[in-house]
Amino acid sequence: MKVTWLGHSAFLLEGKDRILIDPYLTGNPTACTSADKLDADIICVTHGHGDHLGDTVDIARRTGATVACILELGIWLEKCGVKSVGFNLGGPATVRNTKITLVPAFHSSSIGAPGLEFSAAMAVGIVVDSGKVVYHAGDTCVFSDMELIGSMYRPDLALLPIGGFFTMDPAQAAMAAKLLKSKKVVPMHYNTWDPIKQDPKEFERLVKKESKAKVVILKPGESMEV
Ligand code: NI
Ligand code: MN
Repeated sequence: MKVTWLGHSAFLLEGKDRILIDPYLTGNPTACTSADKLDADIICVTHGHGDHLGDTVDIARRTGATVACILELGIWLEKCGVKSVGFNLGGPATVRNTKITLVPAFHSSSIGAPGLEFSAAMAVGIVVDSGKVVYHAGDTCVFSDMELIGSMYRPDLALLPIGGFFTMDPAQAAMAAKLLKSKKVVPMHYNTWDPIKQDPKEFERLVKKESKAKVVILKPGESMEV
């Protein structure tokens, strides 16, 4: 499976299906491409915050991609004219050729509209099985059930936020890598703005101390094979 970091928490996974996760391009200072250039079969969204929901509605309307997400967010997306599979923690849901499981994340979730911010149920992490297993942690702090996620789904790759402030920082994310025992980890959700400025090398150094996971530091637009 080819995995491309598009900047912030946005990834494109090309396995049995083309899967976008948290496609935030418009307004993203680190985006390596624009929303109108992306194509996908499935879009997974971890929560309603603008830096994750991002361009989901535009891309899904244009491409006909199915959006997989938590039930209440799915209901809202359907009202926006987007085909969605809204389900819940536990799952899994099979969308096209891919098995998608929603797992816990400790974080808030809301959708912003002019003059209004409304709750969008809970934020989640996502385990995608599309030939290889990828765990996208979404926005979260570290929590001990990451060990359960690791032993149940045995991710080949974990995508972990390291920016701090809104999510795990490098030390917490290194603990997450230790709990998950995934073979490879990629840091995300850092250096987009000042409050989440971090050195990914520091994350790599801490992971090396704590676990056998290989840290792959990508630049926005770069790809790796899993
Ligand atoms: Ni968030
Ligand atoms: Mn975020």
